[in-house]
Amino acid sequence: MVGPNDIPEALKGHKYPAKSHNKKVKDILLKTRDDLKSDDVAVFIAGEEVEGWKYCDTDRDFRQNRYFYYLTGCDIPGSALLYNFKNDNLTLVLPNIDWDDVIWSGLPLSLEEAKKEYDADDVVHMKDLENVLQKQLGDISKFKIYTTDLDNVHNETLKKHLIPSDKDFFFALDEARLIKDWYELEVLKHAAKISDTCHLAVMSALPIELNEVQIEAEFSYHALRQGARSLGYDPICCSGPACGTLHYIKNSEDLAGKSSILIDAGAEWRQYTSDVTRCFPINGKFTKEHREIYETVLDMQTQAMELIKPGANWDDLHILTHKVLIKHFLDLGIFKKDFSEEEIFQRRVSCAFYPHGLGHLMGLDVHDCAGRPNYEDPDPYFKFLRLRRTLEAGMVLTNEPGCYFNEFLIEEFLKKFPERVEVVDQEVLKKYMYIGGVRIEDDIIVTETGHENMTKITSDPDEIEKIVSKGLERSRSEFHALV
Ligand code: GLY
Ligand code: MN
Ligand code: MN
Repeated sequence: MVGPNDIPEALKGHKYPAKSHNKKVKDILLKTRDDLKSDDVAVFIAGEEVEGWKYCDTDRDFRQNRYFYYLTGCDIPGSALLYNFKNDNLTLVLPNIDWDDVIWSGLPLSLEEAKKEYDADDVVHMKDLENVLQKQLGDISKFKIYTTDLDNVHNETLKKHLIPSDKDFFFALDEARLIKDWYELEVLKHAAKISDTCHLAVMSALPIELNEVQIEAEFSYHALRQGARSLGYDPICCSGPACGTLHYIKNSEDLAGKSSILIDAGAEWRQYTSDVTRCFPINGKFTKEHREIYETVLDMQTQAMELIKPGANWDDLHILTHKVLIKHFLDLGIFKKDFSEEEIFQRRVSCAFYPHGLGHLMGLDVHDCAGRPNYEDPDPYFKFLRLRRTLEAGMVLTNEPGCYFNEFLIEEFLKKFPERVEVVDQEVLKKYMYIGGVRIEDDIIVTETGHENMTKITSDPDEIEKIVSKGLERSRSEFHALV
């Protein structure tokens, strides 16, 4: 259990390495574009602002522009940055002090405090932006000033000189974010550690989890208690046949009468997220079919895991997991033995049960940038694979195979294709529909020699049964809930 203000030992005394992130982007951009000279290039980005709800006196949840955060480590709404390629000066521009706001919210960070907190050469208020532009760039018309977009840029002169949406600039930003540095890895590990405890709590709390939303509540409660003020995405909490809906959003069904649970949820810490899925039996003992599918998915994940290292091609690992699924389905009799593994593979029958990709990059975003997916790929094996690259040390990704029994997927990927539907024994298939689905998802760092699994919450089915059963032995009054 992590305390609300705990920070990893390794991060103590260190600032978010914003300057090295800016330099990384600069180096990639200059390498990509040999027509650019560092003497006349700069970056200006305005971060997100707080937005109010329509017709209402309250605000929307604030989420910082991830590119802005990557280049500053700053999540103060209404901030901006100027980075000068010529002298590597990074200026962080904070919003002016709004004295009306101070009445309600207290004093913001002073410039001196901000200078101590952030890895910037200068910290100024927005009212001094003109002076900073003059000091850093002089004649701005001589500069190519890249930006992500023009949202929240309020200086009209500057706005006219900005270059938004440039594909080479975005390429440089994305490639820089692709390989995580030591600081980012520590933050990601901390987020993963928080999620481990949340998943353990969820698995242990069946006496007070009578509805899917109470699974979500249990996860969110433990995330917040450990200092994760946000989650990386809306938790997917499903039971029974709903476990077959990949990004289920209802989270509202009663658990009574079902046997399986799937929870996909990840805590976010200092803007970096985790993304973890665990499945378990509601009564503490996997049914025969649930266990068979669980072991199929675990085998898919384990076989892929063994191959995660620099130089491995993610397409190949993804294909391997389809082949593992096919073998298991033949053993279980869901696929008829009249067909060979190769024939079933060529017909793409497994896509009806495993339509998504083996995993995706992860970092500031749960589906992080730079994965180079091709959603137009006509091959169903690859259409939804969000990572289409060779692995490199420093990448962070999920390993998350799944297997689903979902009427919609079966209609879409199986029944519309006679050459696929004839492979499946419908009578055997029917016996598995009540499970809905199983996904097992861990968060992985690609290291120089292989990989490191940041997710420590067990995925061993025997261990999971023990945890769930031990939880079930407790009375409802032993939990924090009042009901
Ligand atoms: N939580 C979304 C995903 O696993 O990709
Ligand atoms: Mn994921
Ligand atoms: Mn997930």
